[in-house]
Amino acid sequence: GAPIEVDLAPIQEGQIINVFWRGKLIFVRNRSEKEIQDLRAVPMSDLIDPQTDAARTKEGHEKWLVVYGNCTHLGCVPAGHSGPYDGWACPCHGSLFDASGRVRRGPAPSNLPVPPYAFQTDTKIRIG
Ligand code: FES
Repeated sequence: GAPIEVDLAPIQEGQIINVFWRGKLIFVRNRSEKEIQDLRAVPMSDLIDPQTDAARTKEGHEKWLVVYGNCTHLGCVPAGHSGPYDGWACPCHGSLFDASGRVRRGPAPSNLPVPPYAFQTDTKIRIG
């Protein structure tokens, strides 16, 4: 599939949008400074699939999270701003993800993967 461009300018703080690339659902989330600070304070020992928030975002663009939108258990679509981590909650078997898309409670075995993407400007990304 061809790369797609996503205009971030209309996405308000706290908002999550859905886009599709190669037929796959991708979430783009505009995170608050408080969310980012909280995520970055989480000890790696608390994580099922330990990854720093910094490793899952782009330096200088930390407010933006871009992740595939299907649960890593059996592929259901988790609901945004749900669950105790205010990330996503999967309606199928209860997996919980934080606002970094990291799994915090199974049965999902791994974090929501980050697709290949790059910033073209401060308000535009290219996925693919
Ligand atoms: Fe999400 Fe099973 S598909 S918890």
